[in-house]
Amino acid sequence: MSNLIELPILDSNAAPEPATAVAPAPAGRRLYIESYGCQMNFSDSEIVSSILAEEGYQATQDADDADVILLNTCAIRDNAEQKIRHRLQHLNALKRQRPDMVIGVLGCMAERLKAKLIEEEKMVDLVVGPDAYRSLPDLIGQAESGQKAINVFLSREETYADIEPVRLGGNGVSAFISIMRGCDNMCSFCVVPFTRGRERSRDAHSIVNEANTLYHKGYREVTLLGQNVDSYKWVDETGHRVTFAELLAMVAEVSPELRVRFSTSHPKDMTDDVLHTMARYANICNYIHLPAQSGNSRILERMNRTYDRAWYLDRIAAIKRILGPDAGISTDIITGFCGETEEEHLETLSLMEMVQYDYAYMFAYSERPNTPAAKKYADDVPEDVKKRRLSEVIALQNQHSLARNRRRIGQVVQVLVEGPAKRGEGMMCGRADQNNMTVFADHGFAPGQYVNVRITDCTSATLLGEAVA
Ligand code: SAH
Ligand code: SF4
Ligand code: F3S
Repeated sequence: MSNLIELPILDSNAAPEPATAVAPAPAGRRLYIESYGCQMNFSDSEIVSSILAEEGYQATQDADDADVILLNTCAIRDNAEQKIRHRLQHLNALKRQRPDMVIGVLGCMAERLKAKLIEEEKMVDLVVGPDAYRSLPDLIGQAESGQKAINVFLSREETYADIEPVRLGGNGVSAFISIMRGCDNMCSFCVVPFTRGRERSRDAHSIVNEANTLYHKGYREVTLLGQNVDSYKWVDETGHRVTFAELLAMVAEVSPELRVRFSTSHPKDMTDDVLHTMARYANICNYIHLPAQSGNSRILERMNRTYDRAWYLDRIAAIKRILGPDAGISTDIITGFCGETEEEHLETLSLMEMVQYDYAYMFAYSERPNTPAAKKYADDVPEDVKKRRLSEVIALQNQHSLARNRRRIGQVVQVLVEGPAKRGEGMMCGRADQNNMTVFADHGFAPGQYVNVRITDCTSATLLGEAVA
């Protein structure tokens, strides 16, 4: 899940005039940013880059060369935070050579640890939470003058709706659009409600405008992002409450040539309405990420997911009924949650057997300080048991991914070309409608083009095929 992106070099001539009253950064200040964690963080780094480009910062792809280094961090599991600590240690060496360099921590780990981060990690000059990015220019100025700077204020309103993100490290074909922030669910294992604050939805018009701008710049796919997209709600000027199903339709109407994806759906809120909207528009991809977390109702209750196994399976049945048996479905699974017995773990495996997911993100439970689970339950499944259950889940998922991909052999899928495949001379790649990565011989295709591909072979991770007319 963890990824690293780098800011592309901006054309300094194209840098817009500063839009706020803050003095622009001294000419040539160089900024380097790395992102960890979920797509939301990637999307936020694009907002941060936009805010700082407005202030005259120039992007560099080389940390050694930067005046300001920002790590946009994740706190979801302990190992996500350990990775950041290691990275900070590495950057410490750089800072010793160049003491005037500013090192900042943004994102969920910044929000979780707040000032503690400055106390624990001596070289951190700047700590900024997910709702405070507009204050970055001021805070960097403060840090440059030698003071430690921190803003971890969580907002009930901030959606950065008016900020046009600087698209980072992408392929020019596919982009994220953040449609809401925060989360009002209280899944007992999860740190996100604490690091990202209350749920709020972004102005639907600004979302459609962003999709439209992307389309006119040549993008052909947008992914609408939120922790629980099904609870999107925004009231328009006439007092009408725009639902997620309506928002989906509004974005799909931008152009039949613009694919629409979204993530994440919560099983408790995913309505048939959304599924019918997906079925109605050919450009809304036939793929849904519906995290189950566990296949056992007692564990789901302890997780405070507010649905049980039967409810979850009913939602899967609705997907297969409305979108058809070929719809792509993926999930998130946690193994070894507090009190999980062997039988309960087997119920997760049996749920996976019933659904036959195309793909899954799978994790061993990692207790997060101050979450409801940490307060209420003992983290009592031994680490080796969590890991063994995780490897069972992974092995089963690999079988299912392979079986699902094999079923697609002989089918023709529509692929949006992303660019050259990582491996294989003269091969191109792109995603099928159902989200499978697909590789096929290049016959002069360009990124952003739609190609019909007949599937001839596969691995558990990739479809292989030949373009057809
Ligand atoms: N909003 C999304 C999930 C965001 S976090 C949803 O509700 O599905 C992404 C995934 O990380 C979660 O679905 C869960 O599977 C996993 N996760 C979250 N907290 C975790 C923890 N404490 N230990 C292990 N995995 C966790
Ligand atoms: Fe975390 Fe649950 Fe919110 Fe997802 S829905 S971000 S798992 S609290
Ligand atoms: Fe991590 Fe925060 Fe996303 S905790 S998963 S970066 S919302």
